[in-house]
Amino acid sequence: MQAHDPERPSDADLFRQAFRRYAATVVLVTYVDGSGRPAGLTATSMCSLSPSPPSLLVCINRATRAYAEITDRGLYGVNILSVGQRSVALHCSRPGMDKELKPEWLAADSADRPTPRLRGSLAHLECAVGTSYEAYSHHVFLGLIKDVWLNPVQDPPLLYHGGAYGQLESSAELTERFHWELPG
Ligand SMILES: Cc1cc2nc3c(=O)[nH]c(=O)nc-3n(C[C@H](O)[C@H](O)[C@H](O)COP(=O)(O)O)c2cc1C
Repeated sequence: MQAHDPERPSDADLFRQAFRRYAATVVLVTYVDGSGRPAGLTATSMCSLSPSPPSLLVCINRATRAYAEITDRGLYGVNILSVGQRSVALHCSRPGMDKELKPEWLAADSADRPTPRLRGSLAHLECAVGTSYEAYSHHVFLGLIKDVWLNPVQDPPLLYHGGAYGQLESSAELTERFHWELPG
């Protein structure tokens, strides 16, 4: 048997370190909980699946309350967050804390929708769970997209990278950087 090297990071640490280098767009997976309250879970595991049928997937930890609620209802919303929605992402990422969405975060038509839509999101995609798979600690929910709302205002997306929230460089910052990087 190989001797344990105390200096070597664990497999889980290496996994975390590798994914700190991966930049992802932050989404809020929304649902209506068993008491009828709008709630959300901050996630980066969402990705598009197919345009035909329009579909996406999201991986949800089975230890979360969202997992049980989404499984019960068979519905979830995906709100693609903009830079101005960092406080919503923080509110909905703390395990065990109250995940109810504040009324001022919700769109005026949210009560009429099966999944809560946030004001200021870049897009809201309403999904019905098509298929779902157990995968280690998580569950992969394949969602059939039933409705899409697009924000006419296109703010920059909220990103997560290196364990912190961030954003893309603005075109002014890019121009400035290229100016300094050009030789001579
Ligand atoms: C940037 C970021 C991305 C996250 N992505 C996911 C994800 O894709 N899937 C997931 O299950 N949890 C993810 N989490 C953790 C959940 O947001 C957190 O465990 C959840 O809100 C706990 O919910 P609960 O209090 O209902 O148990 C992420 C957290 C952060 C800060």
